[in-house]
Amino acid sequence: MALPKPHGGKLVQAFDSNYNLAGIEKEIPIDAIALSDLELIGVGLFSPLTGFLGKADYESVVEKMRLADGTVWSIPVTLPVSNEKAEELAAGEKLKLVNEGIVYGVITVSEWYEPDLSKEAREVYKTEELAHPGVKRLFERGPVYVGGEVTLIKKPGKGVAEDVWFEPQKTRALFEEKGWKTVVGFQTRNPVHRAHEYIQKAALETVDGLFLNPLVGETKSDDIPADVRLKSYRVLLENYYPKDRTQLAVYPAAMRYAGPREAIFHAIARKNFGCTHFIVGRDHAGVGNYYGTYDAQHIFSNFTEEELGIKPLFFEHSFYCNKCEGMASDKTCPHSKEDRVILSGTKVREMLRNGELPPSTFSRKEVVEVLIEGMREKETV
Ligand code: ADX
Repeated sequence: MALPKPHGGKLVQAFDSNYNLAGIEKEIPIDAIALSDLELIGVGLFSPLTGFLGKADYESVVEKMRLADGTVWSIPVTLPVSNEKAEELAAGEKLKLVNEGIVYGVITVSEWYEPDLSKEAREVYKTEELAHPGVKRLFERGPVYVGGEVTLIKKPGKGVAEDVWFEPQKTRALFEEKGWKTVVGFQTRNPVHRAHEYIQKAALETVDGLFLNPLVGETKSDDIPADVRLKSYRVLLENYYPKDRTQLAVYPAAMRYAGPREAIFHAIARKNFGCTHFIVGRDHAGVGNYYGTYDAQHIFSNFTEEELGIKPLFFEHSFYCNKCEGMASDKTCPHSKEDRVILSGTKVREMLRNGELPPSTFSRKEVVEVLIEGMREKETV
C-alpha cells in the first residue's frame, strides 16, 4: 500500500513569505477561525481548496457534500464579512487578510454572496439551535461570504512547539522515512483517556504507524486548552507508546462540532497529511445530543473508498470493564452497565477542576496529574 495522493490529486502550496504587498491598500479583518482556515489552505491541509469557497462550491458543499466538480467536501470553508465591507469589494481586487493588526495573507476576490445561514445550519449541523456551539458561531459570523484564491504570507504558529507542527509535505516525508506504508490518523480535542488509547492501539495492531493528531485551533471554552493537552499527550506517549510506531503532530484547525460532516472533513485533512486510515469512534466531533452515537460512521457510506481515498476504521463505544478486567466495548463485553467505568466529559472536567483524580481505569495517572496541574495554573492566571 502506498501513501494516498492528496485529496483532489495535488498538494496545494499557497505560502509565500516574500509576497509583495505594495499597492494592496484595502483589507478584510478575519477572525481566529478564518485565520486557521487560511493557514490550512496555505499549507495544503485543505487540498484541493486554493481559497475560500465561491457560491457554486458553497451551495454544492452544503447540499451535496461535494465541491461543484464532484470532489468530496463536507464542510464549507468560508470567509465572512460585514455588509459594509461587502459594499467596498470589487471582483478581481486583492485585499490583505488581517487578524489583530497583523497581515497573514492576501485574497483575490472572485465573488461575494449572501449565504442562507439557516440552511447551512440545518444541512451541515443538523440543527438551527443556538445552543449548538458551531451553529452559534455560524450565525455570529455571517452575513456575506467572500470567495477567492488566497496566499498565506505569514504562518500564525500560535506558539506551538516546532517538534509537533509539521506540514503535510513534511509528514509525508516522515512516514516514508520511518518506512510506514500504512498510517492511522487519530483526531482528538480531548486528553487521551484509556478508551482513546484502546482504540488507537487496536488500530495500530493492523497498521504500521499511529499519527496522533490533536486539534489545537479554536475549541469551545470548556474544552481543555491545547497547551495543557499537549503536555498530557507527551507524557502519555513517553510512558505507554512505542516511539518507532507513533508520531505526535498538531492539527491547527478550528473545531466545528459538526459531528458526521466533520468526521469526513477530518478524514480528508488526515489524508492530506499522508494517512491511509482514520479512526472514527463514538460520536466523533459531536456535542451535546445533536448526533446519534454512530452517525459519524454511517455518513461514510455516502462515498466510495476510492473517491474518499482514506479508509475509515470504526470503533464501538469503549470502556474499562471491571469484570473483564480490561478495556472492552459492547462488541466484546457481555457485562452490565454497573461493571463499566464510563464518565462523561463534563463529569471529568468537573473532577479535574476540583483536583479530584478520575480512576486509573478511566485515565492514566500521569495524564491526570498533568491535567490537574494545568487546570490549576489556568485558574490562577
Ligand atoms: S472529537 O470531537 O475530537 O471527536 P474526542 O477527542 O472525544 O472528540 O474523540 C476522539 C476520537 O475518539 C473520535 O473518533 C471519537 O469518536 C473517539 N472516541 C472518544 N471516546 C470514545 C469512546 N469512549 N469509545 C470509542 N471511541 C471514542
